[in-house]
Amino acid sequence: MKEDIVKYSNKINDCIISNGEELESFRITYLGSKGILKNLFGELKSVPGEEKKEIGLLLNNLRVQAEEKFTIAKENLQTISVSATHIDHTRPGDQENIGAHHPISLVRKEIIDIFSRIGFSVSEGPEIEDDWHNFTALNFPPEHPARDMQDTFFIQKQDKEMALRTHTSSVQVRVMENSEPPIRTISPGRVFRNEAISARAHCFFHQVEGLYIDKDVSFADLKQTLLYFAKEMFGDKSQIRMRPSYFPFTEPSAEVDVSCSICNAQGCNVCKYSGWLEILGCGMVDPNVLKNCGIDPTVYSGFAFGMGIERITQLKYKVNDLRLYSENDVRFLRQFKAEI
Ligand code: PHE
Repeated sequence: MKEDIVKYSNKINDCIISNGEELESFRITYLGSKGILKNLFGELKSVPGEEKKEIGLLLNNLRVQAEEKFTIAKENLQTISVSATHIDHTRPGDQENIGAHHPISLVRKEIIDIFSRIGFSVSEGPEIEDDWHNFTALNFPPEHPARDMQDTFFIQKQDKEMALRTHTSSVQVRVMENSEPPIRTISPGRVFRNEAISARAHCFFHQVEGLYIDKDVSFADLKQTLLYFAKEMFGDKSQIRMRPSYFPFTEPSAEVDVSCSICNAQGCNVCKYSGWLEILGCGMVDPNVLKNCGIDPTVYSGFAFGMGIERITQLKYKVNDLRLYSENDVRFLRQFKAEI
C-alpha cells in the first residue's frame, strides 16, 4: 500500500491542469466519492494494527497534497479567465500623440511641389559659406555698399573667414559652376542675418530661391512663372504686380506683390489697405554673374527670384509674429495637424 501512496503522490505532482475540464476530472479521480483517496482510506481498515498509524499519516498527507493541488489549479484558472474577460474590445483605443508638421515645412513642401510641376529641380548647399559664393560671384565686390544690406554673421573657420549664408543665392552659384544650361532649379534652405529678434525680423529664417537659365529666357518668362506660382499658392484669382528694385546680381530687378487674398484686394489691415502684399524679389541674372560662374552671357540668359518661406506662411496662415515659428510651443504647432 505504501508503494501505491508514493505512486499516486508522484502522479499528482506531475499532473498538469490547464482548463476546467481537466480540473473536474482531477477532482473526480482523486477527491470524488468513488475516487482514489476514498478507496485508499477504505483499504486502511485491512492494514495490520502496527502499520496503521504510519500508513494513515501517509494517506492524510496524500489527501492534503491532492486538495492543495486542486485549490491552486482552480485559483489559477480563475485569474486567467478574469483577466481575459476584463479586456473590453468595444472601447476606443488610446490615441497616439503623432505630432504635426511645422508650418514652415508645410509651406516649403508646397512651394517645392508648385515649382516641380513646371520642371524645377531642388538643389541644396552649405549653410556656412565662403565669401565667393555668398557675395563676390553674385556681383558684390569687396567694399561694395550692398554687402551692408545683408547684416552678415561672420565666423572664423580654421584660417578662413566664412559667413553664415545670408541667402540661398549661394547655392545657385554652386549649381551654375557645376552644371551646363539649361538650368531650372530651386534652392530651399535656412539663411542667417544679424538682426534683432522681433515680431517682424529674426536672425534666421528660410528661403526658396529659383533660377532658370537657357537660351532666350526673357522677363516675360519670369513674369508668367511668378504669376503661375501666385495663383497656385494663393488662389486662382491672384494677381501680381512688379515694382522696380535693386539687387547686385540681377538687372533689371523687381519686387513682386501679390493681390491680398485675405480681403480679395479690397483693403484690410494685413495689406495696410493697399490690396497688395510684397512676397518676393526677382530679376534677370546679371551677365556678370553668369560670367563669374562660367556661363557665356552672349549665349544664355536667365532669371532668378527669391522668397522668404516665413513671409509666405505668414500670409497663408495669418501668423503675425515671426517668433512663433521657432518657439516650439505645441499649442501653436498643433494647429497645423490637419494640414498634412
Ligand atoms: N537673394 C535675394 C535676397 O535674399 C533675393 C533675390 C533672389 C532677389 C534672386 C532677386 C533674385 O534678398
